[in-house]
Amino acid sequence: MKTIAILPGDGIGPEIIAEAIKVLEVLQQDGLDVQLEQALVGGAAIDATGHPLPAETLALAKQADAVLLGAVGGYKWEQLDIAIRPEKGLLGLRSELELFANLRPALLFPELASASTLKAEVVENLDLLIVRELTGGIYFGEPRGVRTFDSGERQGFNTLVYTETEIERIARVAFDSAQKRNKRLCSVDKANVLESTELWREVVTTVSKDYPDVELSHMYVDNAAMQLVREPKQFDVIVTTNMFGDILSDLASQLTGSIGMLPSASLDANNKGMYEPIHGSAPDIAGKNLANPLATILSVAMLLRYSFNQETFAERIETAVSKVLQAGLRTQDIASENTKLVTTSEMGDAVVAAIKENK
Ligand code: IPM
Ligand code: MG
Repeated sequence: MKTIAILPGDGIGPEIIAEAIKVLEVLQQDGLDVQLEQALVGGAAIDATGHPLPAETLALAKQADAVLLGAVGGYKWEQLDIAIRPEKGLLGLRSELELFANLRPALLFPELASASTLKAEVVENLDLLIVRELTGGIYFGEPRGVRTFDSGERQGFNTLVYTETEIERIARVAFDSAQKRNKRLCSVDKANVLESTELWREVVTTVSKDYPDVELSHMYVDNAAMQLVREPKQFDVIVTTNMFGDILSDLASQLTGSIGMLPSASLDANNKGMYEPIHGSAPDIAGKNLANPLATILSVAMLLRYSFNQETFAERIETAVSKVLQAGLRTQDIASENTKLVTTSEMGDAVVAAIKENK
């Protein structure tokens, strides 16, 4: 029996997680041997305990076999000191569990080609994977803070740092992923300006010697942003730093129609992982039964595949999602003409029904 720590978080987090739980429960009836345990993270945890990542939650996440997270953050906590904001709960989990490899696939379901703001022919059949370094770089680099000079002027500062070891291990994950896909890897950096990413480029190039079957290219991040919009299908796997990956993965999500569709996996060296939709807590639509639960439901599929090796169950979820899209069901973020607008819970119910139909 495996344990999944379920951390709903804030905003739309609890609503979308509720739909993912329905999916897990229907698979349990079909023999998926998992146990679900819930805990607080983010703003919800701040309200209850004063801390975005309570010791209890961290202990549960460490002892569980995988973690499923909704989203964290919201207007209510924006005035708090940055050290105890909801986002620190998420960043704390990533670093405490050493989840250095963040896999963010951007896959376009054919039914949603018209939901993208780009022309259908630019995004049709899009299938790319962003491998984002997740526990290093400017997100965690020291020193950081805001200091006051003698003149009284304040200066904010953060540090972009990468060790060779950190670069090498994320590069290996990316090369391994590329080997299982179309064998093309593009490493994105700013080596023309930033020494830390000049080292990044050097180390990635060295690692590439162990992967002669993968074609490696390098691209500056500004150009990569442009190329992703101009001709996204030129990419297979992209590997990049924590902050560049944060930005480019939001961009890539929009190619697929909606950020509400994209799951992610954050893995440690042993494939233990935390799974979450790449979107945030969307406080503007929270509690209204409007959010798209599919990114979270697809995150469950990634969880079953990567951490539990349950390919059949993973595929059943993905097939069910395709089926409900084929049937024309859409939450508001992906709605278009001649489709049927549904709520968060109706979408979850439809996926559950499609899973039941397809044993
Ligand atoms: C993401 C989010 C987070 C990040 C925030 C919520 C801290 O934007 O997962 O992409 O910046 O990593
Ligand atoms: Mg982000």
